[in-house]
Amino acid sequence: MCGIVGYIGNLEKKDLIIGGLRELEYRGYDSAGFSVLSHGELHAFKAVGKLINLEQKSKDFSSSGFGVAIGHTRWATHGKPTEANAHPHSADFSHVVHNGIIENHRELREKLECMGHRFLSQTDTEVIVHLFEEYLKECGDALRAFEMSVAELKGAYAILLITQKEPNKIFYAKNASPLIVGRGKEGVFFASSDAPLIGWADEVSYLEDGSVGVMDLENFESVGQISKLSQDRSYAQKDGFRYFMEKEIYEQHAVLLESMMGRIHEGRVELEFENLGFWDGVDEITICACGTSYHAGMVGKYLLERYGKIKTNVVIASEFRYATPILKDHELFIAISQSGETLDTLEAVKYVKKSGLKTLAICNVDNSSIVRECDEVLLTRAGIEKGVASTKAFATQVMVLWLLSVFLGGKRGVLSVQEIDEHIQAMIGSAKKTEVCSKLHDRIKRLSKRYLHGHGFFFIGRDVFYPLALESALKLKEISYLHAEGYPSGEMKHGPIALADSELFTVALMPQHLLYEKIKSNVEELSARDATICAVSSQEFDGADDMLYIQPCKHYMEEFFSMMVALQLFALEVAVRVGSDVDMPRNLAKSVTVE
Ligand code: G6P
Repeated sequence: MCGIVGYIGNLEKKDLIIGGLRELEYRGYDSAGFSVLSHGELHAFKAVGKLINLEQKSKDFSSSGFGVAIGHTRWATHGKPTEANAHPHSADFSHVVHNGIIENHRELREKLECMGHRFLSQTDTEVIVHLFEEYLKECGDALRAFEMSVAELKGAYAILLITQKEPNKIFYAKNASPLIVGRGKEGVFFASSDAPLIGWADEVSYLEDGSVGVMDLENFESVGQISKLSQDRSYAQKDGFRYFMEKEIYEQHAVLLESMMGRIHEGRVELEFENLGFWDGVDEITICACGTSYHAGMVGKYLLERYGKIKTNVVIASEFRYATPILKDHELFIAISQSGETLDTLEAVKYVKKSGLKTLAICNVDNSSIVRECDEVLLTRAGIEKGVASTKAFATQVMVLWLLSVFLGGKRGVLSVQEIDEHIQAMIGSAKKTEVCSKLHDRIKRLSKRYLHGHGFFFIGRDVFYPLALESALKLKEISYLHAEGYPSGEMKHGPIALADSELFTVALMPQHLLYEKIKSNVEELSARDATICAVSSQEFDGADDMLYIQPCKHYMEEFFSMMVALQLFALEVAVRVGSDVDMPRNLAKSVTVE
């Protein structure tokens, strides 16, 4: 995810800003840049790739004396990771950096272009600085112009803007993306998370949503609630969580909103395909992936067939490549990958391209090998995922597949405007359901101590809850090294039920809104054979030894996302108790670039 830093004061600004950006490197980025305004002059530098490239480009620049500066690391969401798309973005006399997504950037851009503004990038961010200069022309007051610009923005943002018209100040705004302002003896500092502030700021204010204002050296107190800053850097990188995986589980609510932004509208889903004729003639889909991404693909099959009414196959990349698959002319090949670098998936894409198939990447990393290889891409926008066990990437992959299935349902005329709107409401509801409440987490912490022995786990479910069962079992085995399997609940009686005894732990995914009675009978068969049952449901179930309650939901996909979080936390807490390395489990790699 993108990172922001800002500074007002007398220190050398280039070193300070690049130093701050370095503290945000762990969040991942594909380009970076900074602007310094001092002695009335604006200087900007940008570079694709790592910070070393930015340092190289700006090696002859230094700024002495008082001034203001803003810096940014960009993780591409709108527009490729190029130098032109890197921040800061500029108009005639102002520069801006921004984290988040401006949903209505297209409308704003068209309006501004009609007024004669020329845009240099493909980003959503650039509209902010043009809007600001346009309003400043109209009203002559910079703060007022900034407030009027921010009032036009829809979406999520943390913004810092500097302008030659007010050279000693930084304008800031925050909504749904984090932004912190701090003060120390060397001046005033901004950052999108604690880490760059450590060592510089003693006191900080975590800006509230809706904050819009202007900061100079004198008015730090105007920002609202001020607190002392903890000086523990590694804790700060994890945003105060014990593990990256835990942080990433908690981030799911925010990243799911990012994956939906600009794609959902009242009564319709719009996806950003560059080639408008991309879907012409497509009447079958093959999804190809590995690991967790494969599980997301399995969920996608249920959704694409149910809502898009399009036949969908799902294949494991390493199996697909050597199986002499039959490829059809009207088949679309979708590669799902968090990293975009998994060799088996990449090679599968190259293989189908030789047969002329259309290809689409669903990926978290723009400009990755798989994205470059495919004809079209839908970015999942989960931000960098550090924990080897994938969590938020999976959540956003499922969301993008759900969006795609509803998009196709609309396009193929099989979903009505009202049905599409119901899906959109359920998508927003689902993101909400991934917010972790401390009561649930505490309950899972307590529950985990009862599941450290035995001879294995079965996670069982039906329909989309079957791939969720597979994914939940994978999470547990990846990080706790306990044996766990996912199974379709209706299939247990055809073999695995032979294992049932009190030492067999069965985690039953029992959604209220999808095949509840069917799965209930399957679980009762197991409970009658004395298996230990942990039921995950919003409904009380008599046959369970333990209940893992999720909140009541209106749609089965809300239940899906709710259970997903509960089961990720369950795997995490079991792993903590058995003492394994949660973020870097043994024998596993985040990105597997070998066969
Ligand atoms: C590795 C990781 C898994 C991941 C899989 C596919 O095995 O440990 O967490 O699901 O690769 O990775 P991808 O980046 O293609 O989604």
